[in-house]
Formats: sequence, C-alpha cells, structure tokens
Amino acid sequence: MNLITRILQVSMAVLIFSASSFANEVNLYSGRHYDSDEKLYSKFTAETGIKVNVVSGKGKALMQQIITEGNSSPADLFVTVDAGNLWKAQKEGLFQKITSSTVDSVVPKNLRGPNNEWVALAKRARIMYYNPRTVTEAELDGLTYEDLANPEWNGRVVIRKSSNMYNQSLVASLVANHGVDATETWANELVANMARKPEGNDRAQIMAVANGEADIAVANSYYIALMLSGKKGTEQQAAANKVVPFFPSQNGRGTHINVSGIGLLKGPNTHNAVKLIDFLLSEEAQNHIVKNSFEYPIRDGVNAHPLIAQFGTDFKQDQTPVSSYGEFNPDAVKLMERAGW
Ligand SMILES: [Fe+2]
Repeated sequence: MNLITRILQVSMAVLIFSASSFANEVNLYSGRHYDSDEKLYSKFTAETGIKVNVVSGKGKALMQQIITEGNSSPADLFVTVDAGNLWKAQKEGLFQKITSSTVDSVVPKNLRGPNNEWVALAKRARIMYYNPRTVTEAELDGLTYEDLANPEWNGRVVIRKSSNMYNQSLVASLVANHGVDATETWANELVANMARKPEGNDRAQIMAVANGEADIAVANSYYIALMLSGKKGTEQQAAANKVVPFFPSQNGRGTHINVSGIGLLKGPNTHNAVKLIDFLLSEEAQNHIVKNSFEYPIRDGVNAHPLIAQFGTDFKQDQTPVSSYGEFNPDAVKLMERAGW
C-alpha cells in the first residue's frame, strides 16, 4: 500500500466517523396534522436522505413543551396555523432567523415574521357566507367587515367566540388599520347585531346560515371546500350547498388573509431544517399541501384545490402584514372581552 492510498483511507474513515456522529435528521413539532403529511415528509427524505421526526399535538401545548425543554430542546421547526400563534412563539424568543434565498424569492414580505424567523406555508382567507334567499345583491355590494356593524345587519350575523385565534387576528388587523377606539365601537355594534350568542367552530357558523338561524357568517375559506368534499359527512355537505361564499372588502383593503406557517427553532439541525422549509415551498410540496388543506398556495403557479378555486382565486387580498396580528393581539383580545363577544 503506498502512502497516498493510506492517507485516502484514513481521511475516508474520518469523514464517515464525523458524518455518523451527527444524525441526518430534522425534528419537526407540528400543530397542524393531515394524514397526508407523512407522505410529504417521506418524499423529502427520499430526495435528501434527511429523516423527519414529527412530534404532533395542539399548537399551544407544543409551544409550552418547547419552552419547558429550553436549551436542550431537540425541536428544529414549529409548524402551526395563524400568524398570531407564530408571533407568540417569536415573542417567547424560540425562533432564529431563516437564511434562505427560496424564502426570499417565494414568500411575500407581508407573509413573513420580523427578521424572517417564521414564514407562511399556505394562505387562508377569513371570508363571509350568506344565505342567497335572504341577503340581497345591494346588501352585498362592496360589503366590508366594518359594515357588519351597520343597523341593516341587526340580528343577522354569526361569528364564533373571541377566544378563537382566527377572530383575534381579524380584529387585530382592524386595530392595525383603525386603532383601538374605532375597532372597539365596531365590536360593540357587531355584538349587538349577532343572531345568537357566539358558539361553535367556523363550520358551525356556516351551518347556522344554512339552517336559517342567521343570514351571514364569518368563517375561514377552506371550510366550505372541506364541507363540500363530503369528508365531514352528508349533513355538512348539504349545508355547504345552501350558502354562498363572499369575499369582503373588495373595494377597500381587500379580504383578510391569514397563514399556516413554519418557524425556525434553535434545535441541533438548523441546516436540515432550512432544507425542509425550502422543500415545503417547492412546487411539489405546495401542490401537496393545498390539495389536502384547501388553503391557497404561497408559490405562484401552484393552483388551489378545485373545490375552493371554483369561488375565484384572484380576489383582492389585504396586504396588512400578518405579523401585525400578533402585535395587536393583546389590544384585540381586551376590546373583544369588553364588548362581550
Ligand atoms: Fe381551521
């Protein structure tokens, strides 16, 4: 054996040793679960050789777990819905900056957290659903979230409780645009217009309109597609066919947009974590995500599922930065409580 061969052998051994001392994996804590997620992560593993270890649970509980684990937390990534939740995790100091040219080119700035510590993976709109037999075209013309406080909607509106993050983010966006006082006046009038005391989830609001309990509901966009798909049963499917989705504020700021997103934690596999974020923004993954969640894609050129795309995808979207939903969340929560929402 000559010297060169010997040197090569030794350096190969060193290389193999150092590679094996770092596991080729990434640890993802996910508050968003779809049965199809496993398939998506398998594709990533097949393409990169990086194993994805998923810890799933409720967003709030996972965030608490990451805080409790502290510096020894193995968590590399946190996936959750609603910018308000991502903001909270950032405020706890759990995230670090994501350095990725994919993020910079694919995700619009208003759909990222401060310092690029978290980014959107998909979009959802908080829209309205009306009963076409009781709501007139004139009433819908130019209708905004603000208008739901007007006397013509008295006793006709349903929306879920103020403890729900989707509502908190919607109200925070109004605070960002109008300030606390004007938003509080609006909230008081909206509560007075409600057809019933807030109860149930977003789909329950759509059901209330279908049942004639109310004329108009506020709920997220993907729920109509989920109900129409039949995955929630025939009763909800039939109800979904009785209501019409409406995209508010088209003559003004645009329809309220929120996100599902991912934040980069401080776990041991930062490099692999950024690779997974890049993968989740790829055309392949974006297609997979929106086909299963009925959300809107972040990447241009990817189409939403036909069950949601049929209602139009080129509606005007509010450009208020989603990070402001976290910033104004405390104001929103307090004013909604005062309004008895
Ligand atoms: Fe939801």
